[in-house]
Amino acid sequence: MDRLKVAVVGAGFMGELHARTYAECDSAELVAIVDPNAEVGSAVAERYGARHVADVQELLDDGTVQAFTVALPDRMHVEVTSQILSAGKAVLLEKPMADTLEGARRIADAEQTGGGRLMVGHLLRFDPRYVGAAQAIAAGEVGDPVHVTGTRFSPREVGERMAGSSSVCFYLGVHDVDAIQWVSGKRVTSVYSRAVSKIMPLAGVDSEDSIFSTCEFEDGTIGSLHFGWTVPPQMPSAINARLEVYGTEGVVKLDVHDHGLQVVAPSGVEFPDGLHWPEVNGLIAGDLAAEVLHFVTCVRDDKEFVVPVSDAMRAVAVNDAILRSVESGKPETVEAV
Ligand SMILES: NC(=O)c1ccc[n+]([C@@H]2O[C@H](COP(=O)([O-])OP(=O)(O)OC[C@H]3O[C@@H](n4cnc5c(N)ncnc54)[C@H](O)[C@@H]3O)[C@@H](O)[C@H]2O)c1
Repeated sequence: MDRLKVAVVGAGFMGELHARTYAECDSAELVAIVDPNAEVGSAVAERYGARHVADVQELLDDGTVQAFTVALPDRMHVEVTSQILSAGKAVLLEKPMADTLEGARRIADAEQTGGGRLMVGHLLRFDPRYVGAAQAIAAGEVGDPVHVTGTRFSPREVGERMAGSSSVCFYLGVHDVDAIQWVSGKRVTSVYSRAVSKIMPLAGVDSEDSIFSTCEFEDGTIGSLHFGWTVPPQMPSAINARLEVYGTEGVVKLDVHDHGLQVVAPSGVEFPDGLHWPEVNGLIAGDLAAEVLHFVTCVRDDKEFVVPVSDAMRAVAVNDAILRSVESGKPETVEAV
């Protein structure tokens, strides 16, 4: 079977993981890495046997690349993704779909009119624990959900690195905003959110540390969302996330603060990543590889993606309401998408 010709736009942290996954798989051929930073772009390209280009338009003009990963900073998703979709090419876009609702709508329009196919990389859709929670609820094992909680706390260093360029609800929280709606099968219709900034200003960063929200779903189910880049460096795990759904008949609980592996060394205690992008027998494995390979298969075989564009837009719409509520100090309605 022909290999899908792919390129990665953005050779940073996530872009390199996508590039490596494509380079290691049998179903895709990594053709190019796009990054205006020549040093970074050419280093990643060389590492994975691809060519480096500075601008995605060069690949769109040449026409050989069939599908693209877009792994740009959150605030840069709209222009480049719309450009590629308008050229009729498929895109795997790192989450969040966009950092504004208007931006997400522009991308969705480009998909509709340009003919390219879009999947937003909501990683938890490929995490066996979250998929297990969604399956248990869909099978009726907890009855009707009554209250739903999603939590994600990451190291302070992440917020410092973002330096105010993305909100904690878009960079981190969008995972859980998507998860609580997908796993419960219900849409969030309004939120009341408060933010706190104590740690980031001490590091000279103009950003919230955390945002906590109370949510109401379409059928009266209630929920809460807690996001923060507040984890101090001595904490052994980089990802501290939870999901809980209490229903009329039972409960689904998920705690990912460790992945079942604890390393206690003289330098300290560490709970390493065992599920998102671990290296297993010399190859990248885990949820991210599953997501990237799903994208390749669906584009090549013209199958449906497991992440509908409308769901990714709904996650952006909830975040849009969260930020409006932080600003207004009042509950805010989630816009329909
Ligand atoms: N799925 C996850 O769990 C997860 C984890 C971390 C980050 N992310 C997402 O991945 C995306 C990328 O984050 P990151 O941490 O890898 O960013 P990064 O800052 O490490 O890398 C971004 C890269 O984009 C390049 N770039 C800038 N403008 C460009 C352009 N016009 N064309 C091509 N390249 C350009 C930069 O030079 C840089 O190399 C973000 O949207 C982020 O939210 C997802």
